Amino acid sequence: MTEHTPAPRGFLWGAATAAHQIEGGNVNTGHWELEYAPDSTIPEPSGDACDSYHRYPEDIALLADAGLTAYRFSVEWARIEPEEGVVSRAQLDHYRRMIDACRDRGVDPVVTLHHFTFPRWWEHTGGWYSERSTDRFRRYTEICTAILDEVDWVITINEPNMMVNQTEARIDTENGVNFPGPSPHVARAIASAHHASTEVLRGFGGVKSGWSVANQVFQAVPGWEAQRDRWQYWREDFFLEQARQDDFIGVQSYLRTIIGPTDDAEGFGPQPWPEGTERTLTGWEYYPEALGHALRHTHEITGGIPMMVTENGMATSDDERRIDYTTGALSAMADAMEDGCDVRGYLHWSLLDNYEWGSFRPTFGLIAVDRETFARTPKPSLSWLGDLARRNVVPRS
Ligand code: FCB
Repeated sequence: MTEHTPAPRGFLWGAATAAHQIEGGNVNTGHWELEYAPDSTIPEPSGDACDSYHRYPEDIALLADAGLTAYRFSVEWARIEPEEGVVSRAQLDHYRRMIDACRDRGVDPVVTLHHFTFPRWWEHTGGWYSERSTDRFRRYTEICTAILDEVDWVITINEPNMMVNQTEARIDTENGVNFPGPSPHVARAIASAHHASTEVLRGFGGVKSGWSVANQVFQAVPGWEAQRDRWQYWREDFFLEQARQDDFIGVQSYLRTIIGPTDDAEGFGPQPWPEGTERTLTGWEYYPEALGHALRHTHEITGGIPMMVTENGMATSDDERRIDYTTGALSAMADAMEDGCDVRGYLHWSLLDNYEWGSFRPTFGLIAVDRETFARTPKPSLSWLGDLARRNVVPRS
């Protein structure tokens, strides 16, 4: 039998989603435009996704009825500010109704202001390369404060460190031509937008603000520690450093990345997974221990600010395996907490089987969604996680 130990009082237990991955019909985003371009290389478009734009009351009810106490979702900039400077009151009201639906069911809303997708106008006017990017994000945050009453947790930007990888060479004001890989220029632009946003949120009062960083658990092949440190600075640590003054940081963990020798010009980089490794539906290594490493590393680099696990999970068609993975991850989290990591909650990725940025195939959900009818079918993992929430205990493996 699995042993359990108590979680701290008030620990949040929940699940996470993102607007573009579940809402459907998110036509005003740059991502939608790419999905439907005639020469698109994206395998599947998002289409109606899970139709959560209309079905969110059912989603929140399923989460709450299972026993979970927090729902992380994102509001869509492309809906709220459909053209630059044009604010949609109707869309703000929509998201306010989602917050109210959470509150009515005793669920803490954890609101992400930006989760990967941008309005088309932003993409067409320079994006992070525009000198107005910080002002634009500040103004967007100000617009969002209209609906943030009674919201305790706000994530400004999801995985900023995943947005700095350039897919094509760009002229970079600092580095000349910037080839694929992380761009320090973009990293600084995103950090500046984040700081402007948290400043607005602090002024608004009542909310705890921070951003959520993709933690990749960079491990070195013995002797390659210095190269590992270089590899990870612009891909992770810079973004953790930026959080030092924030109220909390979101920790997102799925896997590890081993850095060692490569044959390319750089001479070092990610290594293949170890031979015989179990893979998930995203092709990632099955490595639940990653969460413990991610929390410890984040604690060290941020100087120990409060943390919330804002994403962790596994793409699989075998729900038993999802429970095994989550047991391992929660156990590693509890070990890290015993060693001094201040963790305020655990939000599983994801509430629903959703649109994984190009495909519906990798199923991360605690709830299955029928692609034709949108019918929701909770999986055993949902009641399993809800039961931990009700008892406020962490399984130890
Ligand atoms: C993270 C993203 C999230 C989801 C998971 C699997 O990088 O934040 O939207 O796609 O990975």
